[in-house]
Amino acid sequence: MTRYIVTLSFAAALAMLQPAVSHAENAEAGQAIFKKDCGVCHGTVQGKIGVGPSLFGIVGRLAGTVAGFRYSEANKNSGLTWDAATLDRYLVSPRTVVVGTTMTYAGQKDAEKRGDLIAYLATLH
Ligand code: HEC
Repeated sequence: MTRYIVTLSFAAALAMLQPAVSHAENAEAGQAIFKKDCGVCHGTVQGKIGVGPSLFGIVGRLAGTVAGFRYSEANKNSGLTWDAATLDRYLVSPRTVVVGTTMTYAGQKDAEKRGDLIAYLATLH
């Protein structure tokens, strides 16, 4: 009987933990979002230039440093380092964080989707 109660309360505790677990960042989901939202303009191969600069190695990279890409002054002189926290802030509304950027992406307001995206970007090394 005691064992049954212990098992039951363990199951209840697990059920309470569930939302946190299902919100864990997911690079695979992030890749799908990337393809839809970023892939038109950004490549993931080192040095590849499209409408936007390659995002290879973006996490931890200093802004405006892909050779041969014509950045706006705003991006080039932003002084930002694209760590996860900065990317998260930027991707909500790029034009607010880098005023004058030529990136026309409107932004991703869903924090979970941004988390997934950044988890995927972190795999591009
Ligand atoms: C319509 C084209 C377009 C889309 C869509 C787009 N970008 Fe961009 N992105 C650009 C351009 C152009 C720049 C260069 C901006 C500048 O120089 O001001 C840029 C710059 C960036 C930078 C800064 C890179 C650096 O080297 O400093 C990051 C990070 C970035 N984009 C991430 C993303 C992500 C993630 C997505 C998808 C959620 C995305 N972009 C969607 C065109 C786009």
